Amino acid sequence: MVISVSHLKKYFKVQQKKPGLFGSLKSLFSRKFQIVEAVNDISFEIDEGELVGFIGPNGAGKTTTLKCLSGLLYPTNGRISVLGYMPQERRHSYLRQIALVMGQKNQLWWDLPAQETFLLNKEIYEIPDDIYKNTLAELTELLDVAALLKTPVRKLSLGERMKMELIAALIHSPKVLFLDEPTIGLDVVMQKHMRDFIKEYNVRHKATILLTSHYMEDVRLLANRVIIIDQGKILYDGKLAQLVKKFAKYKALSIILDSYISPDALGEIGELISYDFPRAVIRVPRSASNVAAAQLLQKFPVDDLNIEEPDIEDVIRDVFSKK
Ligand SMILES: Nc1ncnc2c1ncn2[C@@H]1O[C@H](COP(=O)(O)OP(=O)(O)OP(=O)(O)O)[C@@H](O)[C@H]1O
Ligand SMILES: [Mg+2]
Repeated sequence: MVISVSHLKKYFKVQQKKPGLFGSLKSLFSRKFQIVEAVNDISFEIDEGELVGFIGPNGAGKTTTLKCLSGLLYPTNGRISVLGYMPQERRHSYLRQIALVMGQKNQLWWDLPAQETFLLNKEIYEIPDDIYKNTLAELTELLDVAALLKTPVRKLSLGERMKMELIAALIHSPKVLFLDEPTIGLDVVMQKHMRDFIKEYNVRHKATILLTSHYMEDVRLLANRVIIIDQGKILYDGKLAQLVKKFAKYKALSIILDSYISPDALGEIGELISYDFPRAVIRVPRSASNVAAAQLLQKFPVDDLNIEEPDIEDVIRDVFSKK
């Protein structure tokens, strides 16, 4: 296995400041600290070539975890092993094999063409000329940005810049990628480009990828497996499809009626979610869905009936709101 995280904790000590200048002065002397348990005892393992979605609401601890994994933060407690290294030791040989890409941060030189940053990274990572050329050619082709290599970064669109960021981060052919919201702020077309690229890169290079995103579309289309984190703790780790089975309490019976039935009558089967004759959707408890479906067919003139799983997005929202 490539990544192993065992009982990882990362706490931050933050000073509680009182508002205003007087407050600042006061806290200078009183020194009241508060502990933020950003990551609170999480464990997981990821195999080579896996593409895992790491999701959770704002402040859940995703970025903190990725920073620990890439050696930017020292864990408060627990053990991390990536490619056999302890990331916090920040060995050069480790850093050469990984990449951390943050959608909200950039490493590109603003006033220079992206190419210049790539060349700088070539030197930093000591990439031989021929390998550099091949990798750059592959990445620029996959991302379709060959024509933009000489354009100063500040003149690129957000999406184009993000593509260049990816190239800068991948020019040393890392084996493990930590992608922190790589599609944030991009339009749907550009999001799709990014997604296609990430998938392709994962398959081609057998790269192990841990990816965070607030867009369910990213997770749905990219990751087989998801790890859900909330308030520093893992709520779920497994297949996306299983998540629905495990957490969704309801199913939706979607029907088409042959003749009009009063909403009240339909409401006796379950909760009537929508009714726009001839279509109606009735929500029923998961365990009762078969019985409810049979009842519907028996009592009413139903033309068509589908038993549907709720939307993953709704299920996840449900999981978070219950905490
Ligand atoms: N350097 C820091 N000092 C103090 N607190 C921090 C620091 N970095 C993160 N935190 C706190 O740790 C918690 C987890 O933050 P983190 O950035 O990991 O969340 P996240 O899951 O990435 O959220 P988002 O989806 O908004 O990016 C938050 O409460 C945050 O305020
Ligand atoms: Mg974050």
